[in-house]
Amino acid sequence: TDKYAVVGYPIGHSKSPLIHRLFAEQTGQDMCYEAILIDNEETTFRWSMADLKQRGYKGINITVPFKLDAFEYADSKSSRAESAHAINTFVFNEDGSTTGDNTDGIGLVNDIEINGRRSFKDQRILILGAGGAVQGIMEPLLEKQPASVHIANRTAKRAEVLGQRFETDIPVTGSGWDDIPVTEGYDIIINGTSASLDNKLPPVSEAVIKANSLVYDMMYGAEPTIFMNWAKQHQPNCTVMDGLGMLVGQAAEAFYLWRGVKPKTAPVIAEVRKLMS
Ligand code: ATR
Repeated sequence: TDKYAVVGYPIGHSKSPLIHRLFAEQTGQDMCYEAILIDNEETTFRWSMADLKQRGYKGINITVPFKLDAFEYADSKSSRAESAHAINTFVFNEDGSTTGDNTDGIGLVNDIEINGRRSFKDQRILILGAGGAVQGIMEPLLEKQPASVHIANRTAKRAEVLGQRFETDIPVTGSGWDDIPVTEGYDIIINGTSASLDNKLPPVSEAVIKANSLVYDMMYGAEPTIFMNWAKQHQPNCTVMDGLGMLVGQAAEAFYLWRGVKPKTAPVIAEVRKLMS
């Protein structure tokens, strides 16, 4: 039985062991997956990785607060890991080396395409927030050839800098909340701020939402998030999604890197959601 794990601090509430167990059942893979706490005070990330390798683990997911440590640790990195400047998945190779990847962005993109049944092609995209989570989705998103991407953030400068980083023909712009170009609204709106954690809304004009917009919150919970409720209030016909599908989607891509099999995410999202309520 091949061994995998997620490491983080804290780690007790991680849904990854459940998600990977469901994937393994669905695809008939002989593997186990557990959650391991790394206490930053008592040990180091580097030491913990050496220990896990020595104990025969084949791969690891990395969550808060170690995604940057993971970036430093990897011997080789995928281009989406480089672009995200963070790593959430390690493959421990036979020769002792470590390959790092970031599956968060592709997890979100797949969730919107497969489960939300929406294409990004030629769509006008608005992203709220310019932190680590948003940085991680930019490359997979731009690969889907949207018409344009506007990034808006509390700290305008951060959005502008992030917007300028990508060399692409697709217009990518950045601004503060008050300078979002509204005109006709956006096809896809993604909230990547951590404001929902404090039950706060990014102060954005509701004019950005259209009747047929897809409004996505990277946050999730047992109930619709405050951001999803806000969107529905102003455009009752818009589609809203929370970030549970992104969580399951990033796990599915990690599973694929390790096992070479792509699990279906929809039944797993449904099962995890049932257990949350
Ligand atoms: P993460 O890894 O979750 O992206 P981060 O890199 O700290 O964490 O980024 C948090 C994002 O949420 C940033 O875009 C931040 O805005 P600033 O760049 O201005 O700090 C945004 N954010 C956090 N709290 C917020 C709030 N109360 N209202 C609006 N935006 C908020």
